[in-house]
Amino acid sequence: MTVYSVNGKTPVISDTAYVHPQACIIGEVRIGERVFVAPFVSVRGDRGPITIGDETNLQDGVVVHSDPRFTTRIGKRVNIGHNATIHAEAIDDKAAIGMGAVLMLGSRVAEGALIGNSALLHDKTVTEPYKVYAGIPAKYMRDIGPEDPARAAIDVYVESYIKNVEMYKNSLRSVRD
Ligand SMILES: CC(C)(COP(=O)(O)OP(=O)(O)OC[C@H]1O[C@@H](n2cnc3c(N)ncnc32)[C@H](O)[C@@H]1OP(=O)(O)O)[C@@H](O)C(=O)NCCC(=O)NCCS
Repeated sequence: MTVYSVNGKTPVISDTAYVHPQACIIGEVRIGERVFVAPFVSVRGDRGPITIGDETNLQDGVVVHSDPRFTTRIGKRVNIGHNATIHAEAIDDKAAIGMGAVLMLGSRVAEGALIGNSALLHDKTVTEPYKVYAGIPAKYMRDIGPEDPARAAIDVYVESYIKNVEMYKNSLRSVRD
């Protein structure tokens, strides 16, 4: 695992989280319980704090970078798809960020909101809970009602990545140099 302190700030990673050896975690970063961090993720807390809540997953190639003006807060049971770029101020619990989405400076994703694949959330955009936003720039698309299949689908993703934590801890082996 590549975990670095910088400027006297050292990441704090729960023992129950899994961070792949090819992910890179730098500085003022706090990672909660049963978080899954895939290969080629970069979480760089060199300009301010970043917190990642319990049971959240960061999929391959996700980039999270801090800003000196705020704490970057990623909540619990958040699903962050491959190659998403997170310069947001907050992603609340149970939100989902689609693959390749770009969350620009100070944007805020509300609880249970879904940001579509490849969406661009402009600086300081604030979303509302349990709504879908998509496109460039990202715009409101529809609500996510209690019975919406999207809600169950996000839950399935979250659970599958929680299972990955144990599977990777117990069975991931390098088979070739
Ligand atoms: C945004 C999203 C939630 C929309 O899903 P949906 O509500 O089922 O919408 P549909 O697929 O029925 O598409 C509805 C319309 O939105 C458009 N659309 C769908 N996804 C879009 C996106 N990411 N960006 C822009 N437009 C999109 C469709 O082309 C369609 O347009 P039309 O009505 O003009 O034909 C979904 O496409 C998405 O991006 N999910 C994220 C999944 C993900 O990345 N998960 C991480 C897994 S690793």
